[in-house]
Amino acid sequence: MKNKPISTKPKLSPVSIVIFGATGDLAWRKLAPALYNLLLSGQLPDHFAVIGIGRKNKSSDEFRSRLRDGANNFRGRVDEKTWNKFSPNLSYISGDYADPTTYAALDKQLKTHEKKWGGAANHIFYLATPPDIVETIVKMIGKANLAQDKQRVRIVVEKPFGHDLDSAVALNALLTTVFDETQIYRIDHYMGKETVQNILAFRFANAMFEPIWDRRYIDHVQITVAEQIGVEHRGAYYEHAGALRDMIQNHLIQILTLIAMEPMVSFDADEIRNKKVDVLRAIRPISKEQVKEVAVRGQYGTGSMEGQKIPSYRSESDVARASTVETFAAIKLFVDTWRWQDVPFYLRTGKRLKTKASEVVIQFRPVPHQSFPKTAAIAWQPNCLIIQIHPEEGILLCFQAKQPGPTLHLSPVDMHFSYQEAFKTKSPEAYEALLSDVISGDATLFMRADQVEASWAVLMPILNEWKKSKPAGFPNYKSGTWGPKAAEALIVRDGRNWLEPGLEDA
Ligand code: BG6
Repeated sequence: MKNKPISTKPKLSPVSIVIFGATGDLAWRKLAPALYNLLLSGQLPDHFAVIGIGRKNKSSDEFRSRLRDGANNFRGRVDEKTWNKFSPNLSYISGDYADPTTYAALDKQLKTHEKKWGGAANHIFYLATPPDIVETIVKMIGKANLAQDKQRVRIVVEKPFGHDLDSAVALNALLTTVFDETQIYRIDHYMGKETVQNILAFRFANAMFEPIWDRRYIDHVQITVAEQIGVEHRGAYYEHAGALRDMIQNHLIQILTLIAMEPMVSFDADEIRNKKVDVLRAIRPISKEQVKEVAVRGQYGTGSMEGQKIPSYRSESDVARASTVETFAAIKLFVDTWRWQDVPFYLRTGKRLKTKASEVVIQFRPVPHQSFPKTAAIAWQPNCLIIQIHPEEGILLCFQAKQPGPTLHLSPVDMHFSYQEAFKTKSPEAYEALLSDVISGDATLFMRADQVEASWAVLMPILNEWKKSKPAGFPNYKSGTWGPKAAEALIVRDGRNWLEPGLEDA
């Protein structure tokens, strides 16, 4: 399972990690700090190599200094001694992704390492490239016979996993022409977050929550992933994605599956993934007529955040001046099972929202009978459980208590578990945890083809309707607010309210 004490992990086989798109943003921001930290925490095998591949003409030294810069910037300054252990294992091959000589050079390099290490090594191909190059790379890896060892070779694929259901099916078909499904690791970095992984520990390692984890006690569930940042320098990508594809199809729906899945029998990767797919398949299909009722889209306009003037989405670089792409999406889903029948799951995400916060609210039903006098229960609220994913990391249980004093007054209070306080340690970055899993061959947290396709299937009616009818009135929310008014209405008309992240601590 995850997070076994390092000393109990089996000795890791030698590994060569090949990063395609090695000069790009992902390698610099995420992979460099993660790999360095893995070395630091003893989670890399004694023999390892990182081979960067890119179209840019660079030397291995330039590649090393780029990774060092990434590690320095995104994890804090590297320590000279550790860097000197890390850096001789890094090298760079420049070449065209469609050119067989690139793969011949790679093959030669892989073999040189194996010779030096005195035996076969695992090979991890990490696709950190834009999606339009994936097909070429996969085919060329196949042609160069670099994927044949089903035990030792793995491929890591970044999102987007397609643009819709059909393209996801096509991408999966392409991948499986060269790799077995067991070799494919589709990354959703939310699954590497400690707080997300803890959802299973919280639900299934404690006896007291599971008996009330169903429609008899839970009124509804809210999943919010709110960001303060805009699209930054990713306008070109985002114009083809939008919030539904960028966030809900993967991160939010994955969180939903962890909240809604049935208890697993074992911690076997496929057992857990099967349980998650069961949830996805049980999500009630949305008819095209229902889309207006259950899905809301929005786009940020100008506004102000923390005293700063914020430009609108349409004035960001690489964004069309009349863009109709959504930077906010809220949807309502139902999971048609005995456990969840008629319990709504409200999901929302957006950029340029008031605060950065990812959290899940489990809102319980009110008590069946209110025995306190009305005067005692003025501020009375039903129980709720808040799973704080980011940046707060913890769990909050809200309940009622009697206010001290001679008169009977009930007041909402909470019990708070904080990761920081309980464990006195910083959670590892998501990429670190996930890379460590790929290295040790644990696919539990990675998306299987059927998960990805089932998730697209849930969203296709919304995507189709949204494509057909362009939104009127974009931009429809100011930067620094909680999104469009229609998102309020989506939940308010059910007699409920979004819980504002951060307010629970007030
Ligand atoms: C990525 C999205 O998957 O997740 C980005 O493509 C988004 O648009 C990011 O900003 C959010 O991740 P986190 O970990 O900062 O919540």
